[in-house]
Amino acid sequence: MTMPIAERGTAALRDHLAAELARTRARSVALTDAIDDGELVCQHSRIMSPLVWDFAHIGNQEELWLVRDVGGRDPVRADIDQLYDAFKHPRPDRPALPLLDPAETRRYLREVRGKVLDVLDRAPLEGRRLVEHGFAFGMIVQHEQQHDETMLATHQLRTGPAALYAPAPQPERSLNLPDEVLIPAGEFTMGTSTEPWALDNERPAHRATTSAYWLDTTPVTNLEYQRFLAEGGYDNPRWWSEPGWAHRCDAGLVAPQFWYLDNGSWWRNRFGVIEPVAPDEPLVHVSFFEAQAYAAWAGKRLPTEVEWEKAARFDPATGRSRRFPWGDEDPTPAHANLGQRHLQPAPVGSYPAGASPLGVHQLIGDVWEWTSSGLSGYPGFAPFPYREYSEVFFGGDYRMLRGGSFGTDAAVCRGTFRNWDHPVRRQIFAGFRCARNAD
Ligand code: AVJ
Ligand code: FE
Repeated sequence: MTMPIAERGTAALRDHLAAELARTRARSVALTDAIDDGELVCQHSRIMSPLVWDFAHIGNQEELWLVRDVGGRDPVRADIDQLYDAFKHPRPDRPALPLLDPAETRRYLREVRGKVLDVLDRAPLEGRRLVEHGFAFGMIVQHEQQHDETMLATHQLRTGPAALYAPAPQPERSLNLPDEVLIPAGEFTMGTSTEPWALDNERPAHRATTSAYWLDTTPVTNLEYQRFLAEGGYDNPRWWSEPGWAHRCDAGLVAPQFWYLDNGSWWRNRFGVIEPVAPDEPLVHVSFFEAQAYAAWAGKRLPTEVEWEKAARFDPATGRSRRFPWGDEDPTPAHANLGQRHLQPAPVGSYPAGASPLGVHQLIGDVWEWTSSGLSGYPGFAPFPYREYSEVFFGGDYRMLRGGSFGTDAAVCRGTFRNWDHPVRRQIFAGFRCARNAD
């Protein structure tokens, strides 16, 4: 087990931070080196930024927080701040901005990173909450990794031949698992006050309660979802919420995104490869509205965020909440499908070593899981270090997603981590599992 961040000496902490920054940058570089300049500057979808925008925005956030704030140094490029401010320019407008070109972007990122490594050598890592346990550096690693997942979703939206390759996952796998697991009624500790790099919306730790409920042992599979399709699920408003049905009609939804029916069988486009839909894999690329409709058709519902986190963290033997379903150790390849090692989820029942104490599987990794909850702050929430990370989105048109996907890095995935998106979004690597009351 790696040493917890909070117990490292400062030299070991600086080494760890430098290694995380380097590991993360290697991924951003791989995602942007995989395609030519034309594909970096064009917009593959109006709901996504040009990849060159994400890339320079990563560098600009790093400059703002680590060069200027933590380092107290002069700006590298103060003139470009507003171009890469996500609140100033909506995504459809970004291709027309006078953005840095790919070569300038790469130079800018190298210059910023050089200064950051110098700051990391000298800056005190105590005395200010922003730097305690290397938080600001950890926040910037997490920010870059989040954009790397966004860039991976942009790759999935590309047309044309494949540009990214990775082997299919071949983990250990349990067969014949029970369909559902019973989670007992009662309190547990939700959120965290001790995880050093937890973001503001995961804090503070607080007690939360649920009634008893049944939760699906694994995420819903492609084969299960095909039954919903075959039984006319997309043609029957009965299963859909009112806004969900209106959206299904407006957008003309007939199947998950990237699926195609050919001679009676379902095919998919996965990062430019056309292949049959894999029956035992967790479903991915459905909106919240589709997830909700499927759950209603199955006689179930989506879990709340509280129910998801209790299933993922509560250990009935000790009454404690764990960092991860399997315990407190950081994820290894035996626990979960994370970190873009593979470009698809693993079949259901995989990663038995990653199961929770009550036997719920694949809560971490594979696919983000839609929950029925909206985004708000926990009791005692305080924005840190900036309101625009989470607070400005509270109460908006969002649903919470939990658990991370094959595209999520371990640095941005833990039992407390909270993600959110609009209920219509399907380019993200999101599926779901169902719940039902146990009365
Ligand atoms: C928390 C994943 C919804 O990607 O929009 C990136 C994370 N915040 N840059 C997003 C984020 C600022 C955010 N999500
Ligand atoms: Fe960002």
